[in-house]
Amino acid sequence: MEAAHLAAWIIARLVRRKPQAVLGLATGTTPLATYAELVRMQQRGEVDLRRIVTFNLDEFVGLDENHRCSFHRYMKTHLFDPIGLPRRQIHIPPALASDVPAACHAYEMSIAAAGGIDLQLLGIGRDGHIGFNEPTSSLASRTRIKTLAASTVMAQQAVFGDDPVPRHVITMGIGTIRDARHCVLVATGTHKADAVARTVEGPVSAMVPASALQHHPQTTIIVDGEAAAKLTLQDYYRSVFANKPDWQKN
Ligand code: GLP
Repeated sequence: MEAAHLAAWIIARLVRRKPQAVLGLATGTTPLATYAELVRMQQRGEVDLRRIVTFNLDEFVGLDENHRCSFHRYMKTHLFDPIGLPRRQIHIPPALASDVPAACHAYEMSIAAAGGIDLQLLGIGRDGHIGFNEPTSSLASRTRIKTLAASTVMAQQAVFGDDPVPRHVITMGIGTIRDARHCVLVATGTHKADAVARTVEGPVSAMVPASALQHHPQTTIIVDGEAAAKLTLQDYYRSVFANKPDWQKN
């Protein structure tokens, strides 16, 4: 099964068990295929996603939901509108707030009020960032404003085209992400191989924010062959997957 489809399958399995599941959602190129598969699954009647509650990881400061590059717009286009998700079940970090710390605190409170995040979907930046927690982010951080690293601005420029990329974002913190009951990180392509190896096999370090997931009790890392290329224990991971006891398979 393709990496993106496996992530969709894990989400659908949770939602079948818990229709009002609280999902933490990611943007970027990687989750596009996962969202497309979830939409297809709902159209085929394999899952009903209309009762889920969602919290997105991050948003650009100053961009509203109609801005063509906002993550809110991305989510509406690729998931929320196609599955018919009611507005009241959607939460996006407060990119337009005048009192940013208060609004970020309120975002954390609404996650708690929803009962916490059941499953957090994650991608990864080339530098090992999750959400927009750039290297040196506190491993205990909560939702807050961040300034983007130059390499992240450059990666985002492809989406913004001739428009300037905002330098500031609101992102869930690494502590927020670590509170999710299950984290599912998807990485594909050669350009993610370094970040994946440092995340899984390197030391836990604020220089590689995703490495904080080593302290998480239930994280699933889904990779394709290219993104897995620099993992030294590949044979071991394959044998673990191939030899799962039956009760762990579904
Ligand atoms: C941005 C997002 C991350 C995402 C990363 C990688 O930085 N804030 O959540 O994981 O991009 O994106 P892509 O999947 O396009 O490589």
